Amino acid sequence: MTENHTLTVRDNRTGEEYELPITDGTVRAGDFAKIGKTDDEPGLAVYDPGFTNTASTRSAVTYIDGDKGILEYRGYPIEQLAEKSTYLEVAYLLIHGELPTREQHDQWVHEITFHTFVHENLKSQLQGFRYDAHPMGMLLSSVGALSTFYPEARNISDPQIRHDQVVRLIAKMPTLGAWSFRHAQGKPYVYPDNDLTYTENFLSMLFKMSEQKYNPDPRLAKALEVLFILHADHEQNCSTNAVRSVGSSQVDPYSAVSAGIAALYGPLHGGANEAVLKMLKRIKVPENIPAFIEGVKKGDEKLMGFGHRVYKNFDPRATIIKKAVDDVFEVTGVNPLLEIAQELERIALEDEYFVSRKLYPNVDFYSGLIYEALQFPPEMFTVLFAIPRTSGWLAQWIELVDDKEQKIARPKQIYTGDRRLDFTSAEQRWS
Ligand code: ACO
Repeated sequence: MTENHTLTVRDNRTGEEYELPITDGTVRAGDFAKIGKTDDEPGLAVYDPGFTNTASTRSAVTYIDGDKGILEYRGYPIEQLAEKSTYLEVAYLLIHGELPTREQHDQWVHEITFHTFVHENLKSQLQGFRYDAHPMGMLLSSVGALSTFYPEARNISDPQIRHDQVVRLIAKMPTLGAWSFRHAQGKPYVYPDNDLTYTENFLSMLFKMSEQKYNPDPRLAKALEVLFILHADHEQNCSTNAVRSVGSSQVDPYSAVSAGIAALYGPLHGGANEAVLKMLKRIKVPENIPAFIEGVKKGDEKLMGFGHRVYKNFDPRATIIKKAVDDVFEVTGVNPLLEIAQELERIALEDEYFVSRKLYPNVDFYSGLIYEALQFPPEMFTVLFAIPRTSGWLAQWIELVDDKEQKIARPKQIYTGDRRLDFTSAEQRWS
């Protein structure tokens, strides 16, 4: 730290000045606690609902530069990973921090592949859900239930035990996700096929019927692989923060990850691609686009799938997804909504309203179209997000567990309620 890497704060209530160190572009919230502190009064605190300008951790997992449209996992650009890697290799990278050697890769893939089965009692639990249960509700409760099958998972300080649960979680998520999907359709659950790759096996568990062996179209498996890579991590988003916050109590990783699934379930986080699809269906034909855009500009509604809190130039994931759209439609036939989406994008990107506000297509603008072409109902879209995000959640969880600076997450509050009221008993109040 050099001399001028400090912040001088003058407390005008007392005239006192404080010098706070600046490290990595941040000041420590704890340093503010020294300001104005007396025997009777606590020092200053910072107020930041939604953590919009608060760093909660140091992390070496994922780097984002929203202005430049950069996303990197462990330093590797997302474009290169999506083009040249596989989801399981990316999961290894996120978890271990570096790319695997051939032996490490083969061992990792072997371990994940041979942990895809779940205990039969968990199958009974899934079967107990109502016929119309939301697959995300089924997924989050079954991942929570996994902790009861592996009680040793509570020992989070043992690296080998941690590794075993990481493998189990990444391996079993597609099984639980696919079974939640089959459940809603009243179809029998399909057991994992260990001859297939991670995404091929997922497709098999989703779509296999009476055939002896399900042979997924490699173009679909590849498109899913790309989507999984794009969704694997996105630094301190709402669900990752939930995993870290719950994990900071030192609970087992199944419980922490189920908190992440719960956070992802919410419409402000994992549900935007479903809204895009509904919007495109409502617009129906390209001729209706100009009137729709006018409505958006008047503030009647939003152009769903456009804009992002962090990306203010372009969302690099959207560019990659556009390519995957072509591959999927080559197999499934073109979704008529694609024409509307493309025309909508063309018009919006030329319109001063969207240009001046730096609104560009985000990852959700095209992903819903792919999912629909693959015959997923909208309720499944968030499950398709949760499966690959598991590796990111776990990478962040391991980082948390190893981070000596981390403490149990416990924010402060500004109390706004009553004080020191006199309690009268119910009998007296109601007489
Ligand atoms: N359509 C029309 N106008 C928009 C849109 C949109 N999609 N997004 C933002 N704006 C406008 C706002 O009305 C605001 O205009 P104003 O300055 O005239 O008031 C301006 O652009 C800035 O928008 P904010 O809401 O301040 O931007 P913020 O960063 O808070 O929101 C968000 C980002 C939530 C993603 C927003 O752009 C949005 O709601 N988009 C649509 C939903 C969506 O696609 N979400 C998926 C995000 S990707 C993901 O989570 C995986």
